[in-house]
Amino acid sequence: GLLKPLSYRDRRLVIASNRGPLTLRDSGSKGLEITPSVSGLVSALNPIIDQEGGAWVGWGGRLGKPDEIMGKTLPLTDRNDAFFHEVILTEEEVEAFYEGISNSCLWPLCHNFVEKALFDAEQWQNYRSVNIKYAQTLLQKSQPRDLIWIHDYHLALVPTSIRLERPQAQISLFWHIPFPAPEIFATLPWARELLKGLLDCNLIAFHTESYVRNFLITAEELLGAKVDHVTGSIFWAGRKIIVAAYPIGIDWRDFESLASKPEIRQKAHQLKQASGGDYLILGVDRLDYTKGIPERLKAIEWLFENHPEYKRKITFIQIAVPSRTQVKAYQSLRREVEETVGRINGRFTEDHIPVRYLFRPLRKDHLVTHYLAADMCLVTPLRDGLNLVAKEYVATNGNYSGTLLLSPFAGAANQLKEALQANPYSPQETAEQILKGLLMAEGEKKRRLHSLYKSVKEQDISWWWKRIKQAWLTGSTITVSPKAT
Ligand code: G6P
Repeated sequence: GLLKPLSYRDRRLVIASNRGPLTLRDSGSKGLEITPSVSGLVSALNPIIDQEGGAWVGWGGRLGKPDEIMGKTLPLTDRNDAFFHEVILTEEEVEAFYEGISNSCLWPLCHNFVEKALFDAEQWQNYRSVNIKYAQTLLQKSQPRDLIWIHDYHLALVPTSIRLERPQAQISLFWHIPFPAPEIFATLPWARELLKGLLDCNLIAFHTESYVRNFLITAEELLGAKVDHVTGSIFWAGRKIIVAAYPIGIDWRDFESLASKPEIRQKAHQLKQASGGDYLILGVDRLDYTKGIPERLKAIEWLFENHPEYKRKITFIQIAVPSRTQVKAYQSLRREVEETVGRINGRFTEDHIPVRYLFRPLRKDHLVTHYLAADMCLVTPLRDGLNLVAKEYVATNGNYSGTLLLSPFAGAANQLKEALQANPYSPQETAEQILKGLLMAEGEKKRRLHSLYKSVKEQDISWWWKRIKQAWLTGSTITVSPKAT
């Protein structure tokens, strides 16, 4: 097995995340269509629930009436000891809770896009009630001794509802996105309520030390909580809460084995040939303004402008996976990206089209084909909790060749030290690092890739889960003076 099961017998793992592992769609004549959900969070947790068994509460993408809270229960593994419990949301909840507070307020705020954050008090009411809805489902589907593992910024108030019902519950929350500096977080009108929600956990984990630092200072400054910065603990409401950095990893074996399949290698070869240039450069992201796609395109434009000999040698493929398409900021980003691609190709196409743009989801085997075909992968977000594309590219090419250009503003930059780096806000710096990567001596390319590969393999998904489990099961049950705040 990939991971050792939980050591405590009769304690099940019960996960909650906004988006569940399966997406359901009522498609009239064809009945209910069930597909695996597309989300980094979901792919990361799948091998864990597969190993541990347990339950997973999450939205399956279906809309319902206000009284339809719970939908289907579906098995997640062949072993039949892991189940998905579908949460149904109303149209209003999707607008206010998912598109509103979660993705038009907390998402931009935590990624430092303060000017994009919309604060709407009615939506916040809805965020509260949807969090209660998830908590009720969790309570129904779990036993008091179970380990409740909540994920991400959509569900920050869930711990409070659980703690109220079950004062002794073991609750942990993993925050998958950045946690901003206190003065940014403080602009949220409900900052204190959200923080108190999180502090109803026993363990709160982030991807990097700097998010942990931001969180500790924020709890100290906004709530007056007692904080031990050395051990990363907060003393609040008579409990000790552990706050720690555990950067998520990937199931690299999966990518390695796909990358070794002859038919996929053949397809990758064809893709490279068909691109026509000497160098194939790749970007893969959800179409999100945090990912720095227009900035990346401007770097490519700068490169062609200042080194015109490369417009025939380089093909840049940007894969943009549709995401949160009902949210305005995502719609205007799409227009901006499409306009920029058009402009660059309009300016620099001769017999070769330098930029290719795909706006669609990609199957995993096609993704791996693209990773394999690419001489270089650009992972240049303006801000990113961690970024798994960087790790997937390394895992796919680790035994072969490839160059990674990484933004210092991606959480993964803390682990992937041997990647090339560029400030995504500077087209010139980014373009120069692209050239440096393309022209790098083979020996140095190999050395860098091997070091990256080593860290992706060592700090993989089972390393991540092992460390979280250990902190959770050993460190979180200490009770301090009941009156301490
Ligand atoms: C980020 C978030 C996840 C989310 C994913 C996809 O990685 O941290 O919680 O599931 O984006 O976004 P979506 O809105 O489609 O769930």
